[in-house]
Amino acid sequence: MNPDEIRSTFFDFFGDRGHLLLPPSSVVSSDDSLLFTNAGMNQFRPYYLGERPPPHRRLMSSQPCVRTVDIDNIGYTTRHSTSFEMLGNFAFSDYFKLESMSWALKLLTDGFGLDRDRLWVTVFSTDDESFVLWQKLGFPTDRIQRLGIEDNYWSMGVPGPGGPNSELFYDRGPSFGRSGGPSVNSERYLELWNLVFMQDVRGNSDEEILGPLPGRHVDTGLGLSRLQLVLSGGRHVQELDPLLPKVRELTGSSSPSVRIVVDHLRTSLLLLDAGVAPGNDGRSYVLRRLLRRAMRHLHLLGVTDPVLGQLIGHPLVSREERAFTRTLVRGQNILQRALDRGSLPVELVFKLHETHGFPVELTEEIARERGFKVDRAGFDTLMASHRSRS
Ligand code: GLY
Repeated sequence: MNPDEIRSTFFDFFGDRGHLLLPPSSVVSSDDSLLFTNAGMNQFRPYYLGERPPPHRRLMSSQPCVRTVDIDNIGYTTRHSTSFEMLGNFAFSDYFKLESMSWALKLLTDGFGLDRDRLWVTVFSTDDESFVLWQKLGFPTDRIQRLGIEDNYWSMGVPGPGGPNSELFYDRGPSFGRSGGPSVNSERYLELWNLVFMQDVRGNSDEEILGPLPGRHVDTGLGLSRLQLVLSGGRHVQELDPLLPKVRELTGSSSPSVRIVVDHLRTSLLLLDAGVAPGNDGRSYVLRRLLRRAMRHLHLLGVTDPVLGQLIGHPLVSREERAFTRTLVRGQNILQRALDRGSLPVELVFKLHETHGFPVELTEEIARERGFKVDRAGFDTLMASHRSRS
């Protein structure tokens, strides 16, 4: 199935069950507590909190999201990406656990044709109700796992609505590693769908619950590319991206760096389309960092000509490339020489950053690859005293 077919299958299914389709919000969050839209439910936050009534008790959407927390895993795992599209069904003081679970199961198996025997689920460690409901839906007990707050509690990562969740996984088989379910292997057991049972007002952390929400609500997120990957039998999520063959051809490589370039270009395009320009803080810096990482990985693959701008046809990217190429080459050379000598003094890290414009994040990354660690606290102290002097 292609993305259009997956979307329409999802919307037909939930449309038949009374859900109103809403357009996605911009990937640049209108919510100042977030840099980027990180889930389909972001735009519905006031409905969960009871600040405004929803336009309908059942909603559905397809939402482009950006999450950079896993940036270091991109290219090395098969499942991470810095941007993705999330399909979701949402309910406000309407249906709750049973319907969310049974519909997710039905759609994955009857709608998308996944083998029920390869599905696994997790529930929040104390959520006996969900455990029993999965059993009642005919799910074998040995494929239901309980996990803690890290895995099975969901919030936007900022104060607001939150709740325990239950996730559905697909077993991709032994070529993805050892058996034992999602609690032991997240590559083999690929998380497809997260069902969040919104019930709490979360404070500054997921451990800090301020009280109950005014109603019990549902928020779900199904990763479109992950589902497409499973349906196509592919391995890495970047394989689905039309940019991949172009980057492979350009570099003659299939290494993780190729997937990093593809991932970062895809997210950069999304941000550029949403009106973000590369710059030195906030959202603009995230974009700049993605482009610089993509450049570095192209250099690693031996492509030192400015090709990113051409690859995605964007003048801002070409400008960014022209501005950073010399810095990248010079900074890398200085850094490599130090690492070859076997030490990485914090003064050098600071000088690279401040004098040569070579970002500390990039130094950290390259150092880590060679088994060195940047003294980040020392760097921050040097930065602070430099700022106070100037
Ligand atoms: N809002 C559910 C999720 O992002 O997984």
